[in-house]
Amino acid sequence: MASLRIAILGGTGELGTGLANRWARAGLSVILGSRDPAKAASAAASLAAETGGQVTGTSLTEATSAADVVVVAVPWASHDETLALVAPFTAGRIIVNAVVPLVPPKVSAVTLPEGGSAAMRAKSLLPEDARLTSAFHNVGAQKLKDGGPVDCDVLVFGDDKAAKDTVVALADQIGARGIDGGPLVNSVAGEAMTSVLIGINRRHKLPGAGIRITGLG
Ligand SMILES: NC(=O)c1ccc[n+]([C@@H]2O[C@H](COP(=O)([O-])OP(=O)(O)OC[C@H]3O[C@@H](n4cnc5c(N)ncnc54)[C@H](OP(=O)(O)O)[C@@H]3O)[C@@H](O)[C@H]2O)c1
Repeated sequence: MASLRIAILGGTGELGTGLANRWARAGLSVILGSRDPAKAASAAASLAAETGGQVTGTSLTEATSAADVVVVAVPWASHDETLALVAPFTAGRIIVNAVVPLVPPKVSAVTLPEGGSAAMRAKSLLPEDARLTSAFHNVGAQKLKDGGPVDCDVLVFGDDKAAKDTVVALADQIGARGIDGGPLVNSVAGEAMTSVLIGINRRHKLPGAGIRITGLG
């Protein structure tokens, strides 16, 4: 696990920065990927100083090429474009799609995209040998940045068991509990739950409601 290199596409954003912060503190090597390599390098330098960890920044394609695990954390509006750009560099890599198909302004209402979910759309855009998983839809970025306990479960979906096991372990590394949520087609449940949680946050004035699966001990 410690030798894994993790690229985060959209690593300068809310979720990407939060995940990078936690993984860098856990001793993992993180590469921030951005449309603007200079922006990524600057964000990486700040995170490295803050965490004392190993964080670098570069372009989306170079980050993908340099990593073992590639987390996609860009807005839904740029999901297809980003995956199409990096697709030629994904062979053999574990891809973790954290994108939720939110369509502003109605982000607290579940919206299902063409293809059924962001994960199934990603599957149609990536080559067969990319080891696609889907996770982290229900973790509020603010919680990751606060530095306190993350205190929630992370459902991990995918059709490649070994890839899913790695992502479950990566969820544990941010201080959450990773749980295998079944095949990639189930990702729609995790993605849809995000809109439910955004609504709960609004109604209860919470910074980041999360989910817990009971009965697992
Ligand atoms: N925020 C959360 O709490 C949270 C939780 C769970 C899941 N998610 C999901 O994670 C994804 C990222 O959310 P976020 O809140 O982190 O988003 P964000 O901060 O708005 O954006 C993330 C990054 O994506 C890149 N980006 C923005 N607009 C883009 C565009 N039009 N084309 C290409 N890249 C663009 C930017 O990086 P560069 O400018 O450096 O390229 C930006 O820093 C979303 O799909 C969201 O639904 C978010």
